Amino acid sequence: MPNPFAPNGLREAGPANSGLRRPEGLTSVPDVSTMVDPGSGAVDRAIFTDRTVYDTEMRRIFARSWLFLAHRDQFHKPGDFFQTFMGEDPIIVTMDKQKRIRAYLNSCRHRGARVCRADEGQAKAFTCTYHGWSFGLDGSLISVPNSGGYPETFQREDWGLVEVPNVQEYHGLIFGNWDPDAMSLEEDLGDMRWYLDAMLDRDPEGTVVVGGVMKWVLHGNWKLAAEQFATDWYHVNMSHASALQVLSPTGQGPKKEIAERTGRQFHNDHGHAHGFPVHPKNRFDAKTVHQWYDYDALRERLGDSRVEGPLTNGHGTVFPNFSYLPINGSIRVWHPKGPDRMEVWAWTILDRSMPEEVREAQRLYNLRTFGPSGIFEQDDGENWSECQAIAHGFMTNTTPLNYQMGIGSDREEPGYPGTTSELLSDSAGRAFYRRWAELMRTPAWHEQA
Ligand code: FES
Ligand SMILES: [Fe+2]
Repeated sequence: MPNPFAPNGLREAGPANSGLRRPEGLTSVPDVSTMVDPGSGAVDRAIFTDRTVYDTEMRRIFARSWLFLAHRDQFHKPGDFFQTFMGEDPIIVTMDKQKRIRAYLNSCRHRGARVCRADEGQAKAFTCTYHGWSFGLDGSLISVPNSGGYPETFQREDWGLVEVPNVQEYHGLIFGNWDPDAMSLEEDLGDMRWYLDAMLDRDPEGTVVVGGVMKWVLHGNWKLAAEQFATDWYHVNMSHASALQVLSPTGQGPKKEIAERTGRQFHNDHGHAHGFPVHPKNRFDAKTVHQWYDYDALRERLGDSRVEGPLTNGHGTVFPNFSYLPINGSIRVWHPKGPDRMEVWAWTILDRSMPEEVREAQRLYNLRTFGPSGIFEQDDGENWSECQAIAHGFMTNTTPLNYQMGIGSDREEPGYPGTTSELLSDSAGRAFYRRWAELMRTPAWHEQA
């Protein structure tokens, strides 16, 4: 597909021969990939604080990775829409008249206001509230007030909403990618699909969304959360000690198999990762949910190693910023909002076949553990904010961080696709930063002549 970007770094859309040029200083990108060294396990702390690094992430990671947009269950009829972000770009996801899910940059082509201000809803068209340009469900510009005032060269078809060229679905999860030549979502996920399916494919009917989308702001760089969900089981016994005590049947402390859990941590070359304990007792803590599951049927469907592994209380990250917790039914995006801030958007999804009382038990369980005020979620958010709060000091910022745990422990393990390491390991974190560095050093589709 031809690159729609002109060499001056602007999209070619617009009046022909506009004469616009961006000076090179605005389009040049420094090589920041050397700020992580996955081989030795060292990371420069400035990747969490520096504006240039952050801007490069927007260009070279968010403008060409598969990014989670919404769940399929949020769209039932033409005109259903949901507003989200790809990086910092506002996006409308909607169902068109042919019932196809499409995604557009939510920015009017006139002066740039958003053409949709609601979080979600139903619309026949998206009308900008600034001067009234109106766009159809297919993104085309359908109405312009005082259109007689424009020159003959003005063609409405040149000024439609900018469409995300790739929108694909995997078991109910809808992702978008700006790169016109991106590999397919399934290919990008690779072995990760086997792990994701422990959450998405338990039920032949698939998953549904319950409740709305929970949104909250955290002081912290988006990578702190994304890498933790990919790799960090090390923090669990320490950071979540009080939460584990609350969940303990005796009230004295966590069950032995939880305190001393063993497990595996998967990662692949695209930076996707999932860590999980391997113990059959690491299952749904909500009794109603636990009792409803037919574990024999699950074993039949997903296999023993998946039921006793990824289907336990693990967590994972689809690079760069989508994470999930299979038995909580929590899926979330860490939206970047500048180097120091992220917005967490979290959905509760559950198996479609669940009867109402089981759905409610699962919804409450997720809310109590990983909702915005959940007993685990609060511990994690506090840690990320703590790391960020002191990261701008000159001495703190210039002192590298340690990601060495488990170096040399990667291996192929029967029963689990791809490469795995120990549960307590930074292996997936190093894979996350290996992928990050690879993308940060390689010009993206929009930078090629
Ligand atoms: S900014 Fe949208 S109509 Fe003017
Ligand atoms: Fe945690």
